[in-house]
Amino acid sequence: MAILEDIQSIYAEAENVLNSVANEEELDNQKNLFIGKKGKLTNILKVMGSLSVEEKKTLGKEANETQKKIEELVQNVRTKLKNEFYEVTLKQEFFDVLKPVKLSDKRGSIHPVSQIQAEVEAIFTSLGFSIMDGPEVETDENNFEALNFTGDHPARDTQDTFYTTDGKLLRTHTSAIQVRALRNLKPPFRIIAPGRVFRYEEVDASHETTFYQVEGMVVGKDISIAHLIYTMETLLSEIFKEKVKTRLRPGYFPFVEPGFELDIQCLVCKGKGCSVCKHSGWLELLPCGLVHPQVLEYGGLDSKEWTGFAFGLGLDRLVMMRYGIHDIRYLHSGNLRFLKQFPA
Ligand code: DAH
Repeated sequence: MAILEDIQSIYAEAENVLNSVANEEELDNQKNLFIGKKGKLTNILKVMGSLSVEEKKTLGKEANETQKKIEELVQNVRTKLKNEFYEVTLKQEFFDVLKPVKLSDKRGSIHPVSQIQAEVEAIFTSLGFSIMDGPEVETDENNFEALNFTGDHPARDTQDTFYTTDGKLLRTHTSAIQVRALRNLKPPFRIIAPGRVFRYEEVDASHETTFYQVEGMVVGKDISIAHLIYTMETLLSEIFKEKVKTRLRPGYFPFVEPGFELDIQCLVCKGKGCSVCKHSGWLELLPCGLVHPQVLEYGGLDSKEWTGFAFGLGLDRLVMMRYGIHDIRYLHSGNLRFLKQFPA
């Protein structure tokens, strides 16, 4: 039977062709040439109408089996192609995630002011303080009025101010956050408030128009100067990693009474006198004081019931002291050769 032989030779041909395709797309195309709608095997079945019943049976069976065998063949070839594909691409795309890499020296690092801010925050949170925030654009009331710089109080001149066109100002100190704390928190409370502040200043080695402070405020019953000194000495000993001696001198700020300048004994000469402390043995470090009763009242508290202390820490200054940097402008220069010296 010629047709039977045709069917058998179709299979032989299919085996040959399908086994040598290069990819799945070719496989699908070639498959259609044999068992697709217009494929060779399908075409043969179309002429079976003219055959005897007996012949139809034999050929039908043979054709069905061949169709199945070709489908199986296609399936096997497909699996083989898939495996090959994965093997090749996996090899090409493999990279060793555990391989040690050469670290680039162009990595960024945390700015020294931010580093010291994080340290100060950690020390104070360990002492039970919470961290508070406030806006850089403030009201005159929060920055001055409620801190007892009333009307055209002469102390306003000590803080040259940038004003906005809508009657606000860029806060000149983080003390503005004291007012927010007094109005929003229920005493007793302990807060620190780090932030950026602005002054309309002539820029030189020790003055910048933008710098960073941390405000501190404790309000409670019977708060005294002893609490203030203890807190400051704890902070400074942690920051400078050695026991630090302090002294208080009177200082004037309208929102504290009494107000102080807190000095630390020079870390370089231990008080003997050297060029760093200009031979005085002391370094001026931070202003502080007991919260003025008027400020407590402005903040909505009864000054007969509540007392407090406050301090203002200059972060830039602290960085400069720790590393012996003599010009504040380095800190804001964005100079990578400078910043690279403080990796973290
Ligand atoms: N706000 C003051 C300034 O920037 C510093 C200051 C002084 C803050 C005394 C205080 C303080 O909390 O008690 O010049």
